Amino acid sequence: MFKKIETATDFIKSKIKEMPEVGIVLGSGLGIFVDQIENQTSINYSDIPHFHKTTVEGHEGKLIFGTVKGKKVVALSGRLHAYEGYPMEDVVLPIRVMALLGVKTLFVTNASGGINRDFHPGDLVLITDHINMSGRNPLVGPNLNELGPRFPDMSEAYNKELTKLLEDSAHKNSVHMKRGVYAWMLGPTYETPAEIRMLERLGGDMVGMSTVPEVIAAHHVGIRVAGVACITNYAAGLKPEKLNHADVKDVARRSMKNFISVLTETIAQL
Ligand code: HPA
Repeated sequence: MFKKIETATDFIKSKIKEMPEVGIVLGSGLGIFVDQIENQTSINYSDIPHFHKTTVEGHEGKLIFGTVKGKKVVALSGRLHAYEGYPMEDVVLPIRVMALLGVKTLFVTNASGGINRDFHPGDLVLITDHINMSGRNPLVGPNLNELGPRFPDMSEAYNKELTKLLEDSAHKNSVHMKRGVYAWMLGPTYETPAEIRMLERLGGDMVGMSTVPEVIAAHHVGIRVAGVACITNYAAGLKPEKLNHADVKDVARRSMKNFISVLTETIAQL
């Protein structure tokens, strides 16, 4: 497996001039953030050895290198999800490649269903912790000792300082960000109302089908991580409306202005 990560990394190194320090994973409907990246070089996943193409509409499938506020960044526009059927090690391959390229700081973003009754579509929420409800973990299998330990501590998977930096940047831009715990469900079905009631009792504030594998892999390899969820809908059963992916993408796009100002300001502060 380590060889796979190295091969993909070497390929990318041959295509870019400057190595990134900051990584950004863009969730459903949030891909337009890439317009903020200057001096872009983009590489399609389909050209990178061992990378899979994302099969999800609204996810592009490109690595975009460049600068934001003078900082060298790489954005994953189009993530891979476990529900697409890829092995977990392939889902997190882009994150491990980022680590080998020199990324030290990672921002993960997603579209989530709001479980907490104070959360409304359009809200941006700082992810303070997660609950893994998928039964999957990207670290299952032989440990890659080159990357990190067999039994990583998870008591601060979401870096407190980096999270505070996002919160302060939000404040400066008059954006109010809430805080919450993200529950990862495998998908691809949205949840049943009974599942949402269960997640609420377990301490989940929002729910989605991504992010957690990437956070685990990044944390394992020592990248500091902060997460932002864009609440795109009330979780199943909280309102009479049914859920669909088109609405999820639409609402995420509408939060774009706030999302862009918070993230660019935070990157400038790094
Ligand atoms: N559930 C799971 N994933 C999601 C949701 C949801 O309600 N909204 C956006 N992604």
